[in-house]
Amino acid sequence: MMGRLQGKVAIVTGGGGGIGSAVARRMVSEGAKVAIADVFLDAAKAAAEPLGVSALAVQFDALDPTAVEAMVETTVSHFGRLDILHNNAAMTDPSKHPLDTDAVTIPIEIWDEIIDINLRGYLLGCKYAIPHMVKGGGGSIINTASNSGTAGDLARIAYGASKGAIITMTKYIATQHGKQNIRCNSVAPGVVLTEALDKTVPGLKDIIKRHILTPEFGTPDDIAALVAFLASDESRYITGENISISGGGLIHQPHYADLMDFMAKALA
Ligand SMILES: NC(=O)c1ccc[n+]([C@@H]2O[C@H](COP(=O)([O-])OP(=O)(O)OC[C@H]3O[C@@H](n4cnc5c(N)ncnc54)[C@H](O)[C@@H]3O)[C@@H](O)[C@H]2O)c1
Repeated sequence: MMGRLQGKVAIVTGGGGGIGSAVARRMVSEGAKVAIADVFLDAAKAAAEPLGVSALAVQFDALDPTAVEAMVETTVSHFGRLDILHNNAAMTDPSKHPLDTDAVTIPIEIWDEIIDINLRGYLLGCKYAIPHMVKGGGGSIINTASNSGTAGDLARIAYGASKGAIITMTKYIATQHGKQNIRCNSVAPGVVLTEALDKTVPGLKDIIKRHILTPEFGTPDDIAALVAFLASDESRYITGENISISGGGLIHQPHYADLMDFMAKALA
């Protein structure tokens, strides 16, 4: 699908991370120019450098409205227009993750920070990007949500709530800006095989794997393929949707994994 994004300019937030850097690579391979925006400039630069003049590393903090606006303006003044926004940055600080627990024990400042980076940060990206898209005749916004936004879990109440709200905000943006030729969709990854997952608690990967339907976990490149499709005009009739990309992790009966074990034992 070379050239599907030819002539288009994109911003990928959290572009220094696992999924964001894969999306930036994929978009450039399809002809786009991409601003790789991240709170860590070194990570953004490392992702941008192999992509040459097609990529620009930009430092910004999703918590700061002025910084989000400046990041969008820097992109437009460098590449001349804006067609695609991939809102993808999320609070993934490993020192804070364990504090995102349940309603009773979560420190309220952790709740605020997660909601502000994940949800308010995406709103800010849209706030400053949409006027440029309108000027250019339209655009496509892709928000990274998560399967954690559509079902409960034992921990990470703030993360899950932020991702659920992103799925709803996506529908509002699609509704309010559709006639301006702006589409907005969310992608909801399940567990993705990143370095972090590889290094996680031994045994956790196997528990999760029992509940997906595909033989192997998806990778950041799988997410990038979906995001590039949603960014391109090939998806021009898709808007306001949330597309789960998770090996069918949430589409089956809850007893699926137990039944698989039961049948294996019965046939042994
Ligand atoms: N990896 C998974 O299994 C998985 C599953 C579901 C959803 N997701 C979502 O995918 C997206 C990307 O996650 P990832 O796995 O690539 O993680 P990652 O940690 O590799 O990437 C996240 C990036 O966001 C950046 N970031 C954090 N705070 C920021 C801020 N305040 N301002 C700007 N940038 C900031 C980080 O520096 C990092 O580069 C996130 O929205 C995450 O919630 C990931």
